[in-house]
Amino acid sequence: MIGRLNHVGVATPSIAEAVLVWRDMLGADAIRPTFDMVEQGVRVCFIDLPNGQIELIEPLGESSPLHGFLARNPRGGQHHLCFEVEDIIATRDALMAKGATILNAGQPRIGAHGVPVIFVRPADMGGVLIELMAKPEETH
Ligand code: CO
Repeated sequence: MIGRLNHVGVATPSIAEAVLVWRDMLGADAIRPTFDMVEQGVRVCFIDLPNGQIELIEPLGESSPLHGFLARNPRGGQHHLCFEVEDIIATRDALMAKGATILNAGQPRIGAHGVPVIFVRPADMGGVLIELMAKPEETH
């Protein structure tokens, strides 16, 4: 049921500073405009790579879920992996049947690519936060 790796989420206290690191250290040049996802409490910037994307995420607002992560990792760090799936509801139900906990009470939300996403509790996945997203019409 797991599909293509869509993006790697990287939390940072400052997208403006993080894009400079990715640009100057690794030569990433396809840096998309930064935008706010108010409901999710994050500011987002995608960097296009030949085989996927880096999703830079910065806290937005006092109740951002990223504050806890950045308290533990003040300079930021790798936050989640996101894979595409064919059917987000069937995937969610299959995971729950196997005993996994889906964050947000199992309710898909519209993610940064405009398609439904769910997050699997890291404790059920060897400590890795997994985002699963419905396969977008167009990959990038
Ligand atoms: Co993501």
